[in-house]
Amino acid sequence: MKAVLIPGDGIGKEIAVSVKEVSDALDTGIEWKEFSAGAEYYDKSGKLLEDGLLDTVKEYGIALKGPTATPVGKGFRSINVQLRQTFHTYANLRPVHTIAGVKTRYDNVDLVIVRENTEDLYKGIEYMLDEDTANGIKLITRKASERIARFAFEYARKNGRKKVTAVHKANIMKYTDGLFLEAFRTVAKDYPDIENDSVIIDALCMKLVTDPSQFDVLVAPNLYGDIISDLCAGLVGGLGFAPSANIGDDTVIYEAVHGSAPDIAGKDQANPTAILMAFEMMLRDHGMEDKADRLKKALEDVIAEGVHTTKDIGGHAGTKEFTAAVVERLK
Ligand code: NAI
Repeated sequence: MKAVLIPGDGIGKEIAVSVKEVSDALDTGIEWKEFSAGAEYYDKSGKLLEDGLLDTVKEYGIALKGPTATPVGKGFRSINVQLRQTFHTYANLRPVHTIAGVKTRYDNVDLVIVRENTEDLYKGIEYMLDEDTANGIKLITRKASERIARFAFEYARKNGRKKVTAVHKANIMKYTDGLFLEAFRTVAKDYPDIENDSVIIDALCMKLVTDPSQFDVLVAPNLYGDIISDLCAGLVGGLGFAPSANIGDDTVIYEAVHGSAPDIAGKDQANPTAILMAFEMMLRDHGMEDKADRLKKALEDVIAEGVHTTKDIGGHAGTKEFTAAVVERLK
């Protein structure tokens, strides 16, 4: 199998090494084609994406991506948003579950967030009305809303999940979130075997931190989905444990939920678990269930043992030591 690897910025380069080492240890036979992208590459070359990246992602249909930095409030548009729009990866699948050995408030978190990935305020339709007034457009379509709702119900059905909950603020945003909710309710009728309900985003945040076990699959428009993913990552030990897949009809881009972590970049302190869990998702989706299971177990064992864990969860190991321990378990 051929796959594109985009290490990206900051800790991306360190955790991409972990992926390659683990891939070799598992003997996946994956031929990685590596491309540069991101703010650091831009500073060097004046380009955000290396030539050939887009064509190769299109050709292979599979990419594993490290984080890419985006300037705040100025500069170029997010590469992630561009990639998601270019490859129409309309669903962002973000499973979140408790991992033995990671100390957290709850020991029973098992949630899946399905985030609409192409529209909403992330469409980037923003402009200045005058010097002191900025306007941003929240774009929601019936087509994309129904498509993401259907994705969530199909996922629930295939993965033995019991309930899908729509996340919205339709009491205030009656047209945009109202349409999202209406589309969800229309699609839900086709899935009588799966329970469905809805929750207002602010109430959801409170409920998630007080009792996350009330939820199963959450489907949300882009912005709410982004925010609750980080909240849910916090429930299971932080961003080091949150993988994702950007899924389109022809292309899937797997990545960790976290960013380039400039505060720890280049210091051998990054926890590579999230990107390795994203790699696990990739293996599972491409007929390598057994290897995915082995990787899952190796990660869980190293974390539960607690000897070679990274600083973010109270350990003392660096990225390299943690990766070496995982590789050792895979032998
Ligand atoms: P961040 O996720 O990079 O970092 C937030 C905090 O979590 C930091 O303290 C960081 O050290 C820690 N952290 C993140 N990942 C970690 C890991 N694997 N191991 C240990 N600690 C980890 O978020 P921040 O600082 O808001 O963003 C930094 C840059 O990353 C920005 O330019 C942002 O645009 C970009 N970003 C890129 C994403 C992507 O490419 N998918 C996603 C989120 C942010």
